[in-house]
Amino acid sequence: MPASPVLDGLRPVVESLRGEAGFIYIAKAREVASRGVKVISFGVGQPDIPTFDHIIEEGKRALDERFTGYTETAGIPELRQAIADYLNDRYGAGVGPDEVIATTGAKTAIYLALAAFLDPGDEILVPEPSYPAYPEVARALGAVPRFVTLRWLGSGKGFELDLEALEAAVTPKTKMIVLTNPHNPTGALFSPRQVDELLDLARRRNLIILADEIYDNFVYEGGFRSVLEHGDWRDYVLYVNGHSKTFSMTGWRLGYLVARREVARKLTRLAVNIYSCAPSISQRAGVAALRGPWEPVKRMVEEFRRRRDAIVEELSKVPGFEPYTPKGAFYIFPRVQSILDQAGMSTEEFVDHLLYSRGVVTLPGTVFPEKAGEGFIRFSYAVSIDKIREGVARIREEVERLLERAKR
Ligand SMILES: Cc1ncc(COP(=O)(O)O)c(C=O)c1O
Repeated sequence: MPASPVLDGLRPVVESLRGEAGFIYIAKAREVASRGVKVISFGVGQPDIPTFDHIIEEGKRALDERFTGYTETAGIPELRQAIADYLNDRYGAGVGPDEVIATTGAKTAIYLALAAFLDPGDEILVPEPSYPAYPEVARALGAVPRFVTLRWLGSGKGFELDLEALEAAVTPKTKMIVLTNPHNPTGALFSPRQVDELLDLARRRNLIILADEIYDNFVYEGGFRSVLEHGDWRDYVLYVNGHSKTFSMTGWRLGYLVARREVARKLTRLAVNIYSCAPSISQRAGVAALRGPWEPVKRMVEEFRRRRDAIVEELSKVPGFEPYTPKGAFYIFPRVQSILDQAGMSTEEFVDHLLYSRGVVTLPGTVFPEKAGEGFIRFSYAVSIDKIREGVARIREEVERLLERAKR
């Protein structure tokens, strides 16, 4: 066979990258559905309702006006101003529009932040379980993710940051710590005290906090402390947020990165070489989203609160499940280890079993992204209450059957 530099030249690290499980399970679910099974999916993390009407109208208007060309790389001035106003109204952050860079989804903001700050060999501390993009991108860049397990407080209690373990994991090579709050995949809302302590750690050890607050509107109770509430955020924080979840705009690909102005200006040079600008139509729609009305968002979040209550209630009836009341995002990550022990299954086998035997999609905790999620499974409850009740009832029947069989 002739040598192929395309085949042979791929960097091994790229070959070793993990895909995102939500997307992998979409394909598995499709295969099960093709056999005529009515699949219920708690897999992928996106609101089940379409983008709100007034946002779609503005997108159409942008098209009608042929607003279809490139824009400024950092985003149209109206969008950067609307983002700054949003953050300042909510968090008193004093963000200037020149400190905002619009991106093609929050993921590109994460990529920009990591690519601009991590040299090969640099370490980034990632509380685990974690949304996989941060460690995977870090690895692709030649940097080293160091996982620090979140503290599992037990059934009924959920998760919190382990600040002592984070501090103990800091080495001379550590450059950055990830804070996803509210948290994917656990639905945890880290307390203001923990967020303050993390910022304090960053100050003492001279580290960057990569703060991803994309779920900041999905807060059901308890105080939410944005990192931007810290008056000195400019010295320590790279801030990620976006429109995907709050306005149900996942397909519009609009997110943003906030960094102090001197840095934002330089990051824009990296951005222009990667994606030129966020989609022009989405940017116009994104202004309308932030300017409101906000009632549709509030209604959606209230509905999600009811769904959360329903899924907690239903999961509490399943033997061997250890749920808790997640305070944010739209995920719950119950422990199921005792079922696995009794049924002699791995986390992945259990998740596959629920899909193939009962047509219910969940995600194994082990895809977030390594070991800390062993014995846990993730539900995205961004589906109707009827589906929640039916999906969990199917799981309950199957678990009862498995446990009964294990006794024999
Ligand atoms: C914590 C977190 N950050 C970022 C993203 C990606 O958002 P986007 O679709 O805007 O790229 C997600 C999506 O699931 C997420 O859960």
